[in-house]
Amino acid sequence: MGKIVELKDVSFSYDDKKVLNNINLTIDDGEFVGLIGPNGSGKSTLVKIMIGDLTPSSGEVLINGINVKDMKNRSVIGYVPQKSYSFNASFPASVKEVVSMGLYGKLGLFKKLSKDDWEIVNNALKTVDMIDYKDRLIGNLSGGQQQRVFIARALVSDPKILFLDEPTTGIDAKSEDTLYKILDTLNKENKITIIMVTHDVWAISDKVSRIVCMGNGRLYDKCDTLDFSKKELAEIYGYPVKLDMHHHQSENINNRL
Ligand SMILES: Nc1ncnc2c1ncn2[C@@H]1O[C@H](COP(=O)(O)OP(=O)(O)O)[C@@H](O)[C@H]1O
Ligand SMILES: [Mg+2]
Repeated sequence: MGKIVELKDVSFSYDDKKVLNNINLTIDDGEFVGLIGPNGSGKSTLVKIMIGDLTPSSGEVLINGINVKDMKNRSVIGYVPQKSYSFNASFPASVKEVVSMGLYGKLGLFKKLSKDDWEIVNNALKTVDMIDYKDRLIGNLSGGQQQRVFIARALVSDPKILFLDEPTTGIDAKSEDTLYKILDTLNKENKITIIMVTHDVWAISDKVSRIVCMGNGRLYDKCDTLDFSKKELAEIYGYPVKLDMHHHQSENINNRL
């Protein structure tokens, strides 16, 4: 297993507000990493830096050993952004059209899709079990179904790494379960490395292979191991709610080893 993502001394500020402070992180090919941390701790910012949407003020990001800013083709990276909106019923795009947008990087905005391209779109929809909905309007789907369509959109470029920013926010428990099953298959069978931001600290401990945690502008690696003290975690969150998590996750980690 080689390194697939490497952050070296990454710092980042929005104007004069420092959000990330000398972050170092290595992710190996095949990992499923959960990225947790309180609101505003910089999780989404870190993801945007890893996919090359934002440029660090200092430090560098390597994807497969190549600086992300020098990558002309970022099709190895799939990204499902934090859902800040929800399509309403009148949004005039079908499911298959939304998924086909994932091919624009390859095709350009106004190129017509070939038969093979539509085949790729269909396969991605099958992977997320949404093929039966391909002609439906995106706005008529539930939050969980929309989220699966966005995953399909990220899959059409055949990524090796998939970043998801809070994919379970606002979806019900059953949809969440379906989503985690899909992610598990993508990780184990399709061999896609997954980095998932979540606020769902309890639920993820048995779903991911490693938990890293952000707070106070820093990144704490391996928050789910015994090296990581309960006190530190409580300090990061600013309240002691997660005290049991540490113990719980350590047990899970031990069970997995
Ligand atoms: N575009 C932006 N311009 C200025 N400040 C921002 C911007 N985006 C995020 N921030 C600030 O940066 C900090 C980290 O934000 P974010 O990365 O979204 O955190 P998280 O995803 O952990 O909630 C927050 O204080 C947020 O208000
Ligand atoms: Mg966020």
